[in-house]
Amino acid sequence: MIPVRIAVGERELSLSELELPLELERLVPGREGWEVELGVGKGAYLLRCAASAGDAGFLGIEIVSKYYRLVRDRARKRGHHNVILMRGEALYLIATVLPAGFARAVHVYHPDPWPKSRHNKRRLFDVESIDLVVGLLEPGGTLYFATDHTEYGERVTEVLESHPGVELRRLDAPWPDGPRTNYEAKFVAAGQPILRLEAVRRVGGPLFHPAGERVVVAATSARE
Ligand SMILES: C[S@@+](CC[C@H](N)C(=O)[O-])C[C@H]1O[C@@H](n2cnc3c(N)ncnc32)[C@H](O)[C@@H]1O
Repeated sequence: MIPVRIAVGERELSLSELELPLELERLVPGREGWEVELGVGKGAYLLRCAASAGDAGFLGIEIVSKYYRLVRDRARKRGHHNVILMRGEALYLIATVLPAGFARAVHVYHPDPWPKSRHNKRRLFDVESIDLVVGLLEPGGTLYFATDHTEYGERVTEVLESHPGVELRRLDAPWPDGPRTNYEAKFVAAGQPILRLEAVRRVGGPLFHPAGERVVVAATSARE
């Protein structure tokens, strides 16, 4: 397993120092709401949001240590006390460390499509894992997604469209605030098409993708 590190301001914590699921209010008190970004890369979007937003808190997850350290150091240098940054695998952290239903927004931009089958456990948008990602959202919260990888984007659209807990909208125009991340800016400049989605978690809607539930039930029965 990839060792988890958690940076909050000048502090850096390991999981053994914390009570789980994480109490965000204890780590960064006084936030009015939380936004989460999965796979922050060099952190351009997370840090821009942290600089501009009023009372929200921003939690970023990144698996690559080099990027984690870069974003952590930039957040410290810029004095962003409203940021929690985690080094680790996103699905693992969502399943074991983060509370459920706390985010008003979840951002996933240009995620690695993980085409190799040995990496399939890291796919955020398979029917088996989508409930974890959607489950981060509070009712009425929004998942924002973009990819330059057309085939993967269509697959993500299918998975979200067939999820009874969200209402999906495919955007036919750029984000109103312009390119959000380094990858997006690069692809926009190169004239490459980008698929952008917004999925709102339905109030009172079910949290389970029916196909994912069937896989889990089949796996459970196989072990009996
Ligand atoms: C293609 S880059 C995009 C970075 C940024 N979102 C952007 O749009 O510029 C994908 C990022 O997600 C991270 N990543 C990929 N799989 C991940 C996982 N399972 N958990 C956490 N981070 C992951 C990668 O290390 C990389 O920084």
